[in-house]
Amino acid sequence: MDSIVIQGGKPLAGEVTVSGSKNAALPMICAALLAPGRSSFYDVPDLADIRTLGRLLSHMGARVQRADGARRGPTEHAHTLHVDASEIGRPEAPYELVKTMRASVLVLGPLVARFGRARVSLPGGCAIGARPIDQHLKGLAALGANIELAHGYVEATAKRLKGARVIFDLPTVTGTENLMMAAALAEGCTTLENCAREPEIEALGRTLSGMGAEISGAGTSVITIIGVEQLQAADATVVPDRIEAGTLLCAAVAAGGDVLVRRAPAAHLEAAIAKLREAGASISPEGDGLRVRAPSRPEAVDLITAPFPGFPTDLQAQLMACLCVARGASRVVETIFENRFMHVQELLRMGADITVDGHTAVVRGVERLEGAQVMATDLRASASLVVAGLRAEGDTTVGRVYHLDRGYESLESKLTGLGARIRRVRGSA
Ligand code: EPZ
Repeated sequence: MDSIVIQGGKPLAGEVTVSGSKNAALPMICAALLAPGRSSFYDVPDLADIRTLGRLLSHMGARVQRADGARRGPTEHAHTLHVDASEIGRPEAPYELVKTMRASVLVLGPLVARFGRARVSLPGGCAIGARPIDQHLKGLAALGANIELAHGYVEATAKRLKGARVIFDLPTVTGTENLMMAAALAEGCTTLENCAREPEIEALGRTLSGMGAEISGAGTSVITIIGVEQLQAADATVVPDRIEAGTLLCAAVAAGGDVLVRRAPAAHLEAAIAKLREAGASISPEGDGLRVRAPSRPEAVDLITAPFPGFPTDLQAQLMACLCVARGASRVVETIFENRFMHVQELLRMGADITVDGHTAVVRGVERLEGAQVMATDLRASASLVVAGLRAEGDTTVGRVYHLDRGYESLESKLTGLGARIRRVRGSA
């Protein structure tokens, strides 16, 4: 397993370009299952999760081909992915693939909608929480699917899905996405209510419309879909990753310095930008991105994660790393997942002063963090440890960076481009 070694204490400077969004690309690529023909996706990030999804679609019988597109910037390739889902002989997602990536559940809706059947492994829990899919299943059942759970798998069948009114108990991102895709080929009209409003949902709506779906309201809490008989293959470009952009902003605030984050989708980062400004950062639009100038020392801020447009849970760990050296005490409340403070134990090893009580962490700012050996436990926790390492005095070694590789495309080379002293150490296993 690889590690990343950071020699902290050096401010960042220069410019960095954000890659395509993991959480937009995953549902968009699954939408290719809805139509025969070759779908093409541009600006797809080169990530472990994308490769896992490619293996899953190939397992089903799709033809998946990756081609490097035109270069965009000195170290960034715009990646193109082609998926031909004309022949899907095995509408199933096996445990060994689903267990490594929960987003595999996004094949459920398209498979039932187009083929009338799907057998998808229950994802099981993950480090940050139980991550149930009851809302996905409730919605599919409302559209007429017969849902059976057996031997750790969901077996969903339907002659043809029928449009219905679905009210989610709570806003679920992939639940909303799964139902949008299922309804696109259902007979009649579907209204989805209490939907999640994340930008990735809006991106999926645009992709489905481009395939011939009749869909409106994606990105709002009510989405209406009129089912059609058949869809055409997709041809879509992935939006920049708002969470990677937010992570890079946090890295600049923690390390200090002056950085231009190119392709940062400011409109999708308003809550995070507001918090970072409250913490003393200067953030202003510049060209196609955001320029961030760090304060010498961040100010403490209180933070509550919430569904979009609130502060994203996927940036909670990264901002906490900044708050570890803030002037004053910060309260961080994680409302989305039940176990998303696993970075805390590792930050404590670096000299942070944090106490956790249930969903609330109190972060008392310290003058300095010390480099240490720390362990990544999940995707965003690993990013948090890198951010903290940039600030810490001395060397920080982050182990198990396969977590990081799930959601960040060559983060260490991006940070090296900003002057960070960071390198990957290839692991033995
Ligand atoms: C998506 O996960 C993202 N993943 C997550 O990003 C993100 O943290 C999360 O949304 C919240 O924004 C992708 O888009 C691939 P949810 P998802 O369904 O859809 C509960 C990352 O780091 N819930 O919106 O799985 C659930 O337990 C990842 O990139 C149910 O109870 O999240 C959670 O408490 C991590 N029943 C809340 O809803 C359900 O059927 C929100 O979960 C579904 C969800």
